[in-house]
Amino acid sequence: MLDLARTLLIEAGVSDRVETVLGAVADLDSSPSFDVVIMIGVLHHLQGDAAKQNILTQIAMRLQPGAPLVVAGNYRAYASQPLFMAAWATRWRMNGSGPEEVRAKMRKILQVAEPPQSEEAVISLLTEAGFEEPVQFFASLFWGAWLAQRIPTTR
Ligand SMILES: C[S@@+](CC[C@H](N)C(=O)[O-])C[C@H]1O[C@@H](n2cnc3c(N)ncnc32)[C@H](O)[C@@H]1O
Repeated sequence: MLDLARTLLIEAGVSDRVETVLGAVADLDSSPSFDVVIMIGVLHHLQGDAAKQNILTQIAMRLQPGAPLVVAGNYRAYASQPLFMAAWATRWRMNGSGPEEVRAKMRKILQVAEPPQSEEAVISLLTEAGFEEPVQFFASLFWGAWLAQRIPTTR
């Protein structure tokens, strides 16, 4: 995945301005030196609320006061929306997946991913980690994306 990111950075002509780091957020310098963070498709892969809370707290520590976070990922209990699951399977079929492939993809999702169970759960995780004014700006089936700000240290 990092190789793909590096290739895309080269193609975009910005590789001399971007440092790629292999590791977890916690491996980065913990000072509040970042002026923006974008985290896509990560939160629902972390098992349990504590791990989700931890990565958001780790990010908050590294963001400058008032700086934005964009976070996107799945945020509903899959079993709670059978119609959405059916629509998801239909989308895979429309993209060329056969019945067995659709079943395998569905099994994998149900095994590996553990999304926050609601938008309220996402907001609560963000607030607890030190973010404010979370606004959802995109949603599709189980997927959602939010913009939030690191709470300024002084008001
Ligand atoms: C489904 S991929 C999404 C990758 C990419 N953001 C994208 O949108 O294509 C999930 C990624 O989360 C990363 N990840 C999981 N826990 C992490 C952590 N604590 N710190 C940094 N990355 C983490 C995994 O290494 C994996 O690359």
